[in-house]
Amino acid sequence: MDKEILNLEEAAELFGVSVKTFIKLLKEEKVPGRKIGREWRFSKKALIDWLSSGDSQAYSSSEAETRDFFDKIAPEWEKIRASYYDESIKSRIFEMGILDKNFTVMDIGCGDGYISRAVARSVNKVIAVDISREMLRELEKKAKESGIENIQAVESDGRDVPVDDGSIDVIFASMYLHHIEEPDIAVKEMSRLLKPGGMVFLADFHEHDNMELMEKMHDLWPGFKTGAIKKLFEKNGFKNICIETLDSDIIKYGQKPMEKIFVLTAVKE
Ligand SMILES: C[S@@+](CC[C@H](N)C(=O)[O-])C[C@H]1O[C@@H](n2cnc3c(N)ncnc32)[C@H](O)[C@@H]1O
Repeated sequence: MDKEILNLEEAAELFGVSVKTFIKLLKEEKVPGRKIGREWRFSKKALIDWLSSGDSQAYSSSEAETRDFFDKIAPEWEKIRASYYDESIKSRIFEMGILDKNFTVMDIGCGDGYISRAVARSVNKVIAVDISREMLRELEKKAKESGIENIQAVESDGRDVPVDDGSIDVIFASMYLHHIEEPDIAVKEMSRLLKPGGMVFLADFHEHDNMELMEKMHDLWPGFKTGAIKKLFEKNGFKNICIETLDSDIIKYGQKPMEKIFVLTAVKE
């Protein structure tokens, strides 16, 4: 292909993709090219320059997409969350009586503080961790409005939280794990952070096949199988693993009953 000016088919061929894929690229990205009359024309050199100036890190790392998604919906999260699951996850924490005034607890994937704000007055300190700066901003704003002063917000991807080994009494993770590319690493990190005898309280979906929900909420996992999630915690140094299904008949997603939510509790060995 010696020509300097390419038509649509030639430009697609240069990139080694189908015309359909190339047209999609034209719609989604700022590809250098012009429509002259009804015909697309591209400079071969400009296309090669554009390609080589790309930065792979800016592209669809699922983690970056998740962060951008939650950054965008942070101000609406409370409303979205309420139409997505109710207060029963929080209620279980209090029913279980697992809080203590001397505890330092952590809420990973804390969002706007659905759990952090609920437990703050029952513990000494809450470390609230999230990958989304905007979610943390919402949490800080709402905590301040309620006069809560013992929540420390930490921006982190949950793989390498800047907190000492064995320093946490209870870790909460509500509807977090299905957003994580490698749940094994996230659970290993929970194990590192907990004191021996410390507890994890995790709420998530039982495995489901609601692809519409997954797509809409940018979920990476369609929930988890009970056996698989149990093994994941056993493998990472947890014992006394209990899994119970919340009564989610009352929890609705749109008009449909919500996918079943489970609560897992486990103790760090
Ligand atoms: C479905 S929301 C749940 C928020 C809150 N726990 C609740 O129950 O309302 C999932 C949260 O996990 C956060 N998250 C997703 N991936 C994460 C990661 N790798 N590290 C830390 N937080 C993450 C999102 O930013 C979002 O705030």
